[in-house]
Amino acid sequence: MFFEKILVPCLISSAIGLASPTIGHGIKKRADIDSFITTEGAIAYKGTLANIGPNGTGAPGASAGIVVASPSKTDPDYFYTWTRDSALTFTALIERFIAGDSSLKTLIEQYITAQEHLQTVDNPSGGLSDGTGLAEPKFYVNMTAFTGAWGRPQRDGPALRASALIAYGNYLISQGSESLVLSNIWPVVENDLSYVAQYWNQTGFDLWEEVEGSSFFTIASQHKALVEGNTFATSLNKSCDGCVSQAPLVLCFLQSFWNGSAVISNLGSSGRSGLDANSVLGSIHTFDPSAACDDATFQPCSSRALSNHKVYVDSFRAVYSINSGIEAGSAASVGRYPEDSYQGGNPWYLCTLAAAEQLYDAIYQWSKQGSLTITTTSLPFFQDLVSDAAVGNYSSSSTTYKSLTSAVKTYADGFVSLVEKYTPTDGALAEQYGRDDGSPLSAADLTWSYASFLTAAARRNGTVPASWGESSGNDVPSACSSGSASGTYVTPTATSW
Ligand SMILES: *[C@@H]1O[C@H](CO)[C@@H](O)[C@H](O)[C@H]1NC(C)=O
Ligand SMILES: *[C@@H]1O[C@H](CO)[C@@H](O)[C@H](O)[C@H]1NC(C)=O
Ligand SMILES: *[C@@H]1O[C@H](CO)[C@@H](O)[C@H](O)[C@H]1NC(C)=O
Ligand SMILES: *[C@@H]1O[C@H](CO)[C@@H](O)[C@H](O)[C@H]1NC(C)=O
Ligand SMILES: *[C@@H]1O[C@H](CO)[C@@H](O)[C@H](O)[C@H]1NC(C)=O
Ligand SMILES: *[C@@H]1O[C@H](CO)[C@@H](O)[C@H](O)[C@H]1NC(C)=O
Ligand SMILES: *[C@@H]1O[C@H](CO)[C@@H](O)[C@H](O)[C@H]1NC(C)=O
Repeated sequence: MFFEKILVPCLISSAIGLASPTIGHGIKKRADIDSFITTEGAIAYKGTLANIGPNGTGAPGASAGIVVASPSKTDPDYFYTWTRDSALTFTALIERFIAGDSSLKTLIEQYITAQEHLQTVDNPSGGLSDGTGLAEPKFYVNMTAFTGAWGRPQRDGPALRASALIAYGNYLISQGSESLVLSNIWPVVENDLSYVAQYWNQTGFDLWEEVEGSSFFTIASQHKALVEGNTFATSLNKSCDGCVSQAPLVLCFLQSFWNGSAVISNLGSSGRSGLDANSVLGSIHTFDPSAACDDATFQPCSSRALSNHKVYVDSFRAVYSINSGIEAGSAASVGRYPEDSYQGGNPWYLCTLAAAEQLYDAIYQWSKQGSLTITTTSLPFFQDLVSDAAVGNYSSSSTTYKSLTSAVKTYADGFVSLVEKYTPTDGALAEQYGRDDGSPLSAADLTWSYASFLTAAARRNGTVPASWGESSGNDVPSACSSGSASGTYVTPTATSW
């Protein structure tokens, strides 16, 4: 099936006498990337909704607004709801709702109501009275606690959920619905912000649920939540003192993940290189369309994030045989981290899409600021794409800017083309695709795979989320210190919309 897919267009293009377009190292392009994105975008949207209760066909038995990670119940069993996956999925859907898809309103309200309930469910991480239960990673799809052994707590969940709800809350405020935000959204957000401010400086499990320590993705997500949480509180005439006192400390700590050329995603003894999709996901989920190319927050266009992108992607070139012969500067399939062996340790769709998304974000940022700067840190990234690239600041009217951004766009599209190449004809996105043959592997119809397609496609066409206020939260203190602010936890009451 897979070979048939790539052969057909080659025959067509030679039959009509066109030069075969190539991606990277001589891979035949299957179909125009725009038409793939249109087709797959619709499939990804349906695939996302299919995994959400109460009516999703892949989510039988799931409560209203509950996101099932995948319909797969065996090898692996992902028929649970994760706070992280759910928040990232609804962040994508809320963005789409704000962009005009009003059909999502009920589902978004159901998600918020479901999270409000989940915050009250006692679980092995703890309960709500001291906040500890908020960082429980997953629940059964009927919203009861999962009590088996697991890598817990996972402290990114409360931050990501706060950010998802703040995005919707800010939209409602812009529509004049402050009272609805105060009754239905603020109590949930306040609990999560209190959690982040109190516990950010303790270790926990990373987003892959394997390593206990400090995780770049978690810390970056927490910083964003605290910064936008304070602004959100202020716009509701509330306050978040912990946001104000802790955000600079979190940002300070975030700097320690940088080693001079890459993000070392897990601090502590992971026994790995530290190169990890954790870092790229951290950049794209803290992307601020109004931000400059700030190194401090690892913005997608920052020198640090671009250098890291190169080092991260390159680390997979020799690891997967499907990357064989693909040189630096051409898109390669990427996974969680090069040492990965989970379910065979293969490329992941959501990682390859994240590699594209970071670059689309960067292109948006350069375009918005009207210039692109190459520093000694980002030079190796650019030299892979344009061999005579040099350190400098290039105005958007210059030919150098045009050739650099065009090369970055081609590179980014290359990652999407790889996803196209390794997506089966029905468009279904599993978790992984085989390192040797590119065939879909591990959990079928992974919700996060679909959601990652939606956001990568949106960024490619210049659709971006609202600013989270990065420019008011990027000042790194001259000295770091540990910290914790005690917060308020209030049982959210049942909502009606
Ligand atoms: C789920 O299906 C029921 C019954 O058809 C319908 O009333 C309800 O609106 C649906 N919910 C959503 C979120 O689509
Ligand atoms: C919730 O789902 C779990 C797992 O399927 C099941 O064991 C439990 O009995 C269910 N609880 C309720 C209240 O339905
Ligand atoms: C707590 O913060 C301090 C100061 O940034 C840092 O040195 C320490 O590693 C942090 N510990 C954890 C577990 O976050
Ligand atoms: C916050 O206070 C200002 C000034 O008193 C008022 O105009 C505004 O309506 C208040 N907003 C909310 C959400 O209560
Ligand atoms: C940063 O870490 C990566 C991965 O271990 C390594 O390849 C790179 O050389 C390091 N860079 C510096 C400047 O130490
Ligand atoms: C690059 O040049 C533009 C003007 O073309 C200027 O606004 C911008 O501040 C410069 N950026 C850097 C990092 O020097
Ligand atoms: C951009 O992509 C998003 C997500 O696929 C889609 O909803 C939107 O309609 C697209 N906008 C344009 C202008 O193509």
